[in-house]
Amino acid sequence: MSNLNIYVVGAGIVGLTTALELKKDFRNASIIVIADSFYKDTTSYVAAGIFRPTSGDFGKSEEITRKWICDSYSYWETLRRSREADLAGVKEISGYIFSRRYPHIVRNKYIEKLVPIYRQASEDELKLCTGDWKYGSYFSTILTDPARYLKWVHQQIENMDVHIKEKKIDSFSDVSGKCDVVVNCTGLGAKILCEDSSIVALRGQVSKVTAPWIKNFFYGDYDTYIIPGFDSVTLGGCRQYESYDTRFSRYDYLSIREKCEKMIPSLKQAALIEHRVGLRPHRIPVRVEIEKKIVNGMKLNIVHNYGHGGYGVTTCPGTSLNAVQLVKQVLLEKNKL
Ligand code: BEZ
Repeated sequence: MSNLNIYVVGAGIVGLTTALELKKDFRNASIIVIADSFYKDTTSYVAAGIFRPTSGDFGKSEEITRKWICDSYSYWETLRRSREADLAGVKEISGYIFSRRYPHIVRNKYIEKLVPIYRQASEDELKLCTGDWKYGSYFSTILTDPARYLKWVHQQIENMDVHIKEKKIDSFSDVSGKCDVVVNCTGLGAKILCEDSSIVALRGQVSKVTAPWIKNFFYGDYDTYIIPGFDSVTLGGCRQYESYDTRFSRYDYLSIREKCEKMIPSLKQAALIEHRVGLRPHRIPVRVEIEKKIVNGMKLNIVHNYGHGGYGVTTCPGTSLNAVQLVKQVLLEKNKL
């Protein structure tokens, strides 16, 4: 029996990656992941999975944001170079971001010096896609297929004796008194669990198509993206503020197809595989912090790690490592280390 009990609530990419990082540091701890949604029912499953953070700050400061991004890139790059890369769904990818309107859209202060290549697109490259593209950048980065990675990380933590339990946590009183610390990775679920009104849904919809001739990614204005993955190409997308509708919208599909086919007309020949809809848990800043809460008359130590918006795949390793540091801080205060 371990004398250290840690619960992780949530089994999306943030919860499972946090459980993995915790188990690497606390080999003898009992770690239990508790969630009511897994794999295809998580928002992570919907994401195209490209390492491309927003250029705005989503941590409490630019310094924190940069640290999360650098730590995340190093995690994905290490996995990409490992023998596990294919199984974990991690590979290198390169492509273009174009804009007709603003030069700042094609820049990114966080990754320009981090990824191997980030340069201005040439005049010829601006003509690669249909449309009068005025500004453009070419860069290389990492793609993580969430379908593969979620399976891989689930297997990794199970092999390390992390227990995974299907249960809905309606309130922190469900876990209080049972563990030393609970790590909250519930994404949009935190809106109700933590009564956090600063988190909102940003609805997204994508379509998976067969188009093996597409080798690079392409981003255009107004949430248009074409991202080749392992087994399909993702066409996107949309960002609907405060929409909680998880149903497929035919209207969105037609608009996505039109936007993508306008950029790359050969996509008209791409056969449809499936549609995916997800609610991105948008919160600025992403909440990575300790909360000490009195629950059922007892002190419960919570480490929050939620609110990654559309950047859960990109930044989950960085925020998870930060959450592990906070767990250590809590356990030191409790004289448990
Ligand atoms: C996206 O990457 O566009 C996305 C991420 C999560 C849910 C929906 C879409």
